Amino acid sequence: MIIAVDGPTASGKGTIARALAAHFGLPVLDTGLLYRAVGYQTQLDHGDPDKAADALAACDFPATLLEDPALRYESTGSLASRVSVHPPVRAALFQRQVDFANQPGGAVLDGRDIGTVIAPHADAKLFVTASPEERARRRHAEMLGRGVEVSYEAVLADIHARDARDTGRADAPLLRAADALLLDNTALDRDAAIAAAIAFVEGRVGRSS
Ligand code: C5P
Repeated sequence: MIIAVDGPTASGKGTIARALAAHFGLPVLDTGLLYRAVGYQTQLDHGDPDKAADALAACDFPATLLEDPALRYESTGSLASRVSVHPPVRAALFQRQVDFANQPGGAVLDGRDIGTVIAPHADAKLFVTASPEERARRRHAEMLGRGVEVSYEAVLADIHARDARDTGRADAPLLRAADALLLDNTALDRDAAIAAAIAFVEGRVGRSS
């Protein structure tokens, strides 16, 4: 069984993907981490993330980079969203994601284009979202909890910029697949959102088997 979980930044899609993977006993891939690694490697190489050739050269980043805590930084998320607009970068990361999706037994993947490009044949697709203000509120609280001094306004501005870049790019934009469940968790807590996601997938699997 392949489960595709897409959605904008700070929507809670990673939490939902991990919960689905644990519930159904499937491996999970956070595809954003791959783009974050490319963005961060571009910076380490003193490249320009807005130049396709520089970003493409960073696609053969060492596997150990995926463990680097710096990939989780907000600044790395912005780098990721800049390198991810280049079609050669998306092409370079494509097969790795497709192979993960198609492994025997299935998988859960979360990202921006899983249900539309990487696994259009997924058994269940979810598009997880929340209002920009609610996503900024949660991200801001989480950052303050980690001791990062940042204003709510700055976090909200970054979320708007990331949304605009992710939805506005020509290649594989952030888009809800026609057959994806829209899971807007603006007014839902974590457990309610996870329960809704599990119920949806169970309904899908039951229907297709
Ligand atoms: O999900 P996360 O915030 O870690 O993703 C970082 C950036 O990587 C996103 O803003 C997006 O631009 C890019 N990305 C992408 N396609 C994916 C996953 C992430 O373009 N499948």
